[in-house]
Amino acid sequence: MDETLFSIIDTLSTTHSLSTEQYEYLVTHRSDEGAKLLQVRAAAIRDAIYGKDVFVRGLIEFSNICKNDCYYCGIRKSNPNLSHYRLTEAQIMYCCKSGYDLGFRTFVLQSGEDGHFTDDVLSDLVRRIKIEYPDCAITLSVGERPYESYARLKEAGADRYLLRHETATKAHYEKLHPPEMSFDHRMQCLRDLRKLGYAVGAGFMVGSPYQTPGDLARDFKFLEEFRPDMVGIGPFIPHRDTPFKDMEAGTLEDTLYYLSILRCMLPDVLLPATTALGTIHPLGREMGIQYGANVIMPNLSPVTVRKMYELYDGKICMDDEGAACSRCLDLRLEKIGHRIVVDRGDRKIQTEEVLL
Ligand code: 5AD
Ligand code: FES
Repeated sequence: MDETLFSIIDTLSTTHSLSTEQYEYLVTHRSDEGAKLLQVRAAAIRDAIYGKDVFVRGLIEFSNICKNDCYYCGIRKSNPNLSHYRLTEAQIMYCCKSGYDLGFRTFVLQSGEDGHFTDDVLSDLVRRIKIEYPDCAITLSVGERPYESYARLKEAGADRYLLRHETATKAHYEKLHPPEMSFDHRMQCLRDLRKLGYAVGAGFMVGSPYQTPGDLARDFKFLEEFRPDMVGIGPFIPHRDTPFKDMEAGTLEDTLYYLSILRCMLPDVLLPATTALGTIHPLGREMGIQYGANVIMPNLSPVTVRKMYELYDGKICMDDEGAACSRCLDLRLEKIGHRIVVDRGDRKIQTEEVLL
């Protein structure tokens, strides 16, 4: 029994804060017992705030056209085997309708960095969805944009924004991205989004190429200090048409352990059990929930385009309509004693007293 590990887990789950060195210790000294203890703490903290409710977000992948060339990503600009698509406004509205009818009250509009979606085009779309579904939250996940652009989209009615930081270590960032992309700019975007009043999501891939325990410790410390409203983490999974095709995938065990760390660190955070986690293990998402997650993001994109939004190999739910995924998830969660709720699923901000 590793006393240091246990005392660090205790500190994390009671004070919700550790030093970077302590995070690194957690990463490098994981034991089965330690992971179990952390899981129990994470689930209890989550239950105290959210109970067994799981929030759903309807994910609409509306364009796979991207000007960037991230080494890990299947829809990178220089993937020669990618067929491109861009949904029309009518198609996007149809996805929202089918999601709304299934009980979804958050739409996540995600795309590559596609120049077609200027501020005018995108803010018109956001406005239209908001008029039709005023009781729904809109989350954008469309990459790095100038401050003014984020401001206009916010004004149009966007509520939340997902932009994974990918890694909080500049040198690591530079190993995952081509020289045109900048770590400092990405971090600036996150600060801009926060300043504009978005609910902000950051996050990273577990087991991304060249990731060290020190990098992970800095990711945790960054997230502890930045305090995002949402944190998206999932295993890195190589994609056959990328420079990282022969790299090792991230593991289930690591991802679950890190989900528990995040829940203990940020008790009220919105934490998805990601599609990538469901891809590396058939019960990955269910386990994600059991280790502290409380959000699931089923795909609402038309089945005809799903295969073209392959960020990594083997992505699940390629042939299932939104309705089929929704039923499937209801059943899966019911089996583990959780339930999907019809709700926007805003963060329930906790004051310290509730937790102590
Ligand atoms: N494996 C896992 N996750 C990936 N992403 C991109 N490519 C991969 C991959 N090969 C993640 C990135 C991005 C998010 C939309 O998907 O972290 O921010
Ligand atoms: Fe898509 Fe089960 S969640 S088929």
